[in-house]
Amino acid sequence: MARQAQVVWLIVAALLFGSYHNHVTAQQDVVIGHAISLQEQLARAHRENTRLLAMYNHIVHHRPPRILQDKTSDVQMEFPSGTEDKACIGGPQSLDGVVAAVVIITFNRPAYLQKHLESVLSVHRRHPEHRERFPLFVSQDGTPAHEGVANMSKSYASQGIRYMHHLELEPPKTLTKKENKAYYRIANHYKFIMETFFDCFKYPRLILLEDDMELAPDFFTYFEATAPLLDSDPSLYCVSSWNDHGLEKFVSDPLQLQRSDFFPGLGWMLTNAVWQDVKGLWPHAYWDDWMRLSAVRKGRQCIRPEICRNFNFGERGSSKGQFFKKFLQYTRLNDVDVDWMHTDLSYLEARRYEEDMNATLAAALKQSDVTLAKMASGDVLLEYDSQEHYEKITGQLQMLREWKDGIPRGAYRGVVTVRQGNARIFIAPSSKFKPPDPNAVKSAVKTDSTGALVRKRDRKAAMGLSHVAT
Ligand SMILES: *[C@@H]1O[C@H](CO)[C@@H](O)[C@H](O)[C@H]1NC(C)=O
Ligand SMILES: *[C@@H]1O[C@H](CO)[C@@H](O)[C@H](O)[C@H]1NC(C)=O
Repeated sequence: MARQAQVVWLIVAALLFGSYHNHVTAQQDVVIGHAISLQEQLARAHRENTRLLAMYNHIVHHRPPRILQDKTSDVQMEFPSGTEDKACIGGPQSLDGVVAAVVIITFNRPAYLQKHLESVLSVHRRHPEHRERFPLFVSQDGTPAHEGVANMSKSYASQGIRYMHHLELEPPKTLTKKENKAYYRIANHYKFIMETFFDCFKYPRLILLEDDMELAPDFFTYFEATAPLLDSDPSLYCVSSWNDHGLEKFVSDPLQLQRSDFFPGLGWMLTNAVWQDVKGLWPHAYWDDWMRLSAVRKGRQCIRPEICRNFNFGERGSSKGQFFKKFLQYTRLNDVDVDWMHTDLSYLEARRYEEDMNATLAAALKQSDVTLAKMASGDVLLEYDSQEHYEKITGQLQMLREWKDGIPRGAYRGVVTVRQGNARIFIAPSSKFKPPDPNAVKSAVKTDSTGALVRKRDRKAAMGLSHVAT
């Protein structure tokens, strides 16, 4: 019996030992397995860590320093190409503190664009707040886009210039074969810009620049100070930095601003409200002359300075007449940094401006001889009875003489103001004046080098036929 028990014990012991041994081996395997897996994880984490570190170092050392400092680095610097009528190439932008978005219109002149951008930036940087108040954009026309201009624009991204491109889906259809398609393309490009900035981005105001302009030092503060006037006075159409009679010899006061019925364009600001009013009828071409039609303008006026706040250095371009170019080079660019934010502008209020003008005209010395008027000192009044009479007077003064839809360039209620020596000359309609007959204007569409109408008789005179009765 005892021997049997011994054998049983031995078997039990052997079984127990075996199971114990098996158990320990299994446990060891699990532990070793864990250890290997942890080691693998560690190695992986280490590799990942090295990779991230390398990435971090790469970013830190290769990132341009501006982005590290720029709290607005999330601002979109390039937009997808867009076309008018399908203009939303992005949602509303940040409008915090914005006075007006500034859009530079460009096409195919990289050297002009560079000169212009340098001028814009040098004025823009005068006040750090401009960065927020006047966000800068370039909008390029042309399909395909001129590569040099696109590259030039994008190379200014680090200086805050954002880039967009107006795409043409199909060439414009001109009304007549003789017409230059450029006028149609420009109108479409402006439409694209207005829709993008007002309808999509929802900016309150927009300043439009062209790539051949040099800016005056107070360019942006001038627009900042006049923006509230534009908002509060429904009889205002725009603020412009341009005076059509801003030639060196005709201007002297950097502080003087004027109201005008003639839309000057050329470096100008409009509100979203004005865009909403005109956009439904936006023309296929000649947008600036369209803005000058009384049916579109509806009696509204623009504010502009006596001394221009931009100088046009362009020698070629599609939208300016020859006669206009002839005068451009003599324009005076303001060089005084006027403190517009602390300048009283209440004299520009519509009613007061009209009363002041009436009082000034009533007090001015009436003169009919242009030579005597030029030699006078103080305020002089030269009256005209007709458009032809106006052209005669302004011809003697060697001014631009052009009229558009019954309004002389630069006029306020028909009154054009220029300085000559010590005189301030008001060329004003007399009580006999009758607005030009629109049909007569249509029959004489040719203009001479000053913008005056070339009438039938004049053409004969030009051909040496002045003795022939008409
Ligand atoms: C514009 O930039 C691209 C990309 O850097 C380059 O390949 C091209 O040659 C540039 N073109 C001009 C005209 O500068
Ligand atoms: C200014 O003069 C014009 C022309 O005589 C007149 O029609 C207008 O009512 C006057 N305006 C004011 C505000 O006196």
